Amino acid sequence: MNEENVPRHVAVIMDGNGRWAKKRLLPRAAGHRAGLKRMLALSEHAFDCGVRFLTLYALSVENLSRPQEELDALFGLFRSYFAEETERLEKRGVSLRVIGNADLLPPDIRGMIREKSREEEGERGTLALAIGYGSRQEIVAAANRAVREGREVDEEAFSRLLQTDGMPDPDLVIRTGKEVRLSNFLLWQAAYAELYFTDKMFPDFTNADFDRALEAYSRRDRRYGKVGNDGR
Ligand code: FPP
Repeated sequence: MNEENVPRHVAVIMDGNGRWAKKRLLPRAAGHRAGLKRMLALSEHAFDCGVRFLTLYALSVENLSRPQEELDALFGLFRSYFAEETERLEKRGVSLRVIGNADLLPPDIRGMIREKSREEEGERGTLALAIGYGSRQEIVAAANRAVREGREVDEEAFSRLLQTDGMPDPDLVIRTGKEVRLSNFLLWQAAYAELYFTDKMFPDFTNADFDRALEAYSRRDRRYGKVGNDGR
């Protein structure tokens, strides 16, 4: 693919781990483990393709009301990810950033996020993990901050109050797992993103499937509400 057609920022809603496991008569935690394995491979691949920012929706605010057993399994994966993977990312020139409300997470994970999350872009790019993330909550927090500081904001200044400050808006949002919705993910930032939905459950979403999403993106005509060159 022509390099200039590669989206700079891809965001992925990694849905379908639970159904993937259910189909195999496995516990949901096994689906999340398979999802993590896929996520590791996919995050290498995305940067190899030339993507500079990859944002992965790992846990929404709403997901936090799932049964404690499932949350414990996910928290266990986050712990091992921060302990084992962040250094590897750093070595590859990818910086890790975490967005979301860390106050909703267990204290040790909050500490790991404080220690590992960086705002500077890495040499090869940035991997942003959305954990305990909710877009409406993020927007309300930003609005409250503007009110507290007693200032009126324009779009650009408002964007700077969001947790994604310094990151470009996503060009492409991919959702696996058959559902066709955004589920409180990057609602402000994705205003002009191209959306790509696939029936594949996240653990089955291969690097080749990712390439297909990039291909589809490269064929889209992004007009940002304006009239295209051919008058359409
Ligand atoms: C949605 O599938 C997926 C999640 C709530 C968790 C996603 C987490 C991972 C891929 C592993 C993350 C690990 C790290 C370290 C970030 P679902 O459970 O809602 O699936 P379902 O809709 O089929 O039930």
